[in-house]
Amino acid sequence: APRHLLSIADLSTPELTSLIRNAASHKTTLKSGGSLPNNLTSSLLGQTLAMLFTKRSTRTRVSTEAAIARLGGHALFLSPGDIQLGVNESLYDTSVVISSMVSAIVARVDKHEEVATMAKHSTVPVINALCDLAHPLQTVADFLTIHEAFPGAGGGSGGLGLEGLKIAWVGDANNVLFDLAIGAAKLGCTVSVATPKGYKIPAAMRDVITSSSSSAFLTETNTPEEAVKGADIIVTDTWISMGQESDKKARLKAFEGFQVTKELAERGGANEGWKFMHCLPRHQEEVSDEVFYGPRSLVFPEAENRLWSVLSVLEGFVVNKGKIV
Ligand code: CP
Ligand code: NVA
Repeated sequence: APRHLLSIADLSTPELTSLIRNAASHKTTLKSGGSLPNNLTSSLLGQTLAMLFTKRSTRTRVSTEAAIARLGGHALFLSPGDIQLGVNESLYDTSVVISSMVSAIVARVDKHEEVATMAKHSTVPVINALCDLAHPLQTVADFLTIHEAFPGAGGGSGGLGLEGLKIAWVGDANNVLFDLAIGAAKLGCTVSVATPKGYKIPAAMRDVITSSSSSAFLTETNTPEEAVKGADIIVTDTWISMGQESDKKARLKAFEGFQVTKELAERGGANEGWKFMHCLPRHQEEVSDEVFYGPRSLVFPEAENRLWSVLSVLEGFVVNKGKIV
């Protein structure tokens, strides 16, 4: 059976570390005018990878298509209007058929069950490009970004040296947070989450996040100031994820006071060198322009890192068939 990447929980700590290290190495090589090793450059030559997206995307689509091209492969982008899925054909039939013709499926769907069903019936690796519960490609890019911003000691044991960094998440408990928190547990960071009442991490997801680690690394509050206390990195995302548009009014009201601002960081007592991250796309309500476009913001390197991260994930899951070294 092929190995799939449905969430960061599918990776061991050494594997997550390797994906980030390989991404960093490809970034350095390619940005300094070098080329990937020959066996990687043409590793997907003659191969097609299907990109089945039922939701919009800028970063995930562009980075994945660009990375596939770097490896010599062909990216076949399939949106709901192009294929029979959902109208004339089931997910089972679609998964079996598409996987009989391509080398991998990169899928952005609504529910986690959909991508899990696809993986169950696919004969080729399925890579989750975002669902309601996970966004692993984002998490790899986020920790690459944190690794670059906080080089640390390099980790004597071959780790990334991120142990002890505090990540504060202020906003909605969503897909991007869930995988970020699982990654944080694996890499030794602590996570403090501030959500409005009624929007906290669902209990089942909390169990998943804390299952591979002592749960002490994760704290939850309804007070943004409390979450950012002593934080090295403040992170947020949209308050209205794709598919939640009909809830917009109620959410805007519930999240009042949760905008990330310089004043919030100062009031709460974030660490002096605190940085800001956001997976994008961004709306003004969740972060001020001052922070988003300011010197503490890592948002554009973070977005660029999506390219280097997906390149590394394709190397591990498609070229090397799930053997991540
Ligand atoms: N961050 C992210 O996944 O962006 P897109 O929705 O544009 O792909
Ligand atoms: N939480 C957002 C992330 C978009 C990249 C969403 O699911 O829409």
